[in-house]
Amino acid sequence: MRAVVLGAAAGGGLPQWNCNCPVCARARGGDAAVPPRTQVSVAVSADGESWVLLNASPDLPYQLRANKMLHPAAGGQTRHSPLRAVVLSGGDVDCIAGLLSLRESQPLTVYAGAHVLDVIESNQIFRVLNREVVGFLPLPPGVEVPLRDADGVALGLAVRAFSVPGKIPLYQETPGDPRQFGSATAVIGLSITGPGGRRLVYMPGCADVTDEVRHEIEGAALLFFDGTLWEDDEMIRAGAGTKTGRRMGHISISGPGGSMAALAGVAVARRVFIHINNTNPVLCADSPQAAQVRAAGWDIAYDGMEFTL
Ligand code: MLT
Ligand code: MN
Ligand code: ZN
Repeated sequence: MRAVVLGAAAGGGLPQWNCNCPVCARARGGDAAVPPRTQVSVAVSADGESWVLLNASPDLPYQLRANKMLHPAAGGQTRHSPLRAVVLSGGDVDCIAGLLSLRESQPLTVYAGAHVLDVIESNQIFRVLNREVVGFLPLPPGVEVPLRDADGVALGLAVRAFSVPGKIPLYQETPGDPRQFGSATAVIGLSITGPGGRRLVYMPGCADVTDEVRHEIEGAALLFFDGTLWEDDEMIRAGAGTKTGRRMGHISISGPGGSMAALAGVAVARRVFIHINNTNPVLCADSPQAAQVRAAGWDIAYDGMEFTL
């Protein structure tokens, strides 16, 4: 199985258009230690020919142009794409907005959990995806689903969704509503098995590392995990927002309650932080925080990062 990081940043990207935090300023200034990153998405393939997207980023049109393996086959039919399916892990803007850029009547299969299928069904704008050629299929938690293209041809990959502590999308929140925004069904983790039983786990959003989460990750060849924030109050202290990571449904990387500590004992061959917010100092390759992450055996995702499992 191949996996290519199309985008490694959280919502907003790096640099974010309206942000002048130290990390964005360095990225905008062309600092070699802080390369720009687009909003998160990973492409996976069993054979290097047919590709599946893990989430459809708002930056998808750029990502499709930047990655040659996703270009139409040269000299082939007028309309062609190696992109055959999209698997969605959540309903946030940075997970699904790229679907709107796939509206050129190209046959595709879109897989998502019930919560996200409902978002797509209830928002008229997604009707731009021609239902005659684009199929939408559910991912019930715990069920191994073989991925297929729009013609039903197996893509050599199977996905099992599992529930992840998370939050409903921001646009579904009602300001002032006292109910909890946390949700056990709005966000799913994706466990993807390829040829030879090699498995990758994709979790760009995770509010808490529970025993179930640990169990799902155990034994994977590759883990992409929520690297949004270094510290819970980082955006507040940077003057970049009013919310903690906890309030946004993202566990932080550092500290005794952080993801590095929580996942330290879990057997996984390669562990990579992805969905990294632009305030996070690990985005600066020369920061002490990046050194600490690397020393703990983690990689920090960047656009174009490739894996062969
Ligand atoms: C998140 O990851 O928390 C969301 O992408 C935030 C948002 O929708 O802006
Ligand atoms: Mn996000
Ligand atoms: Zn910033």
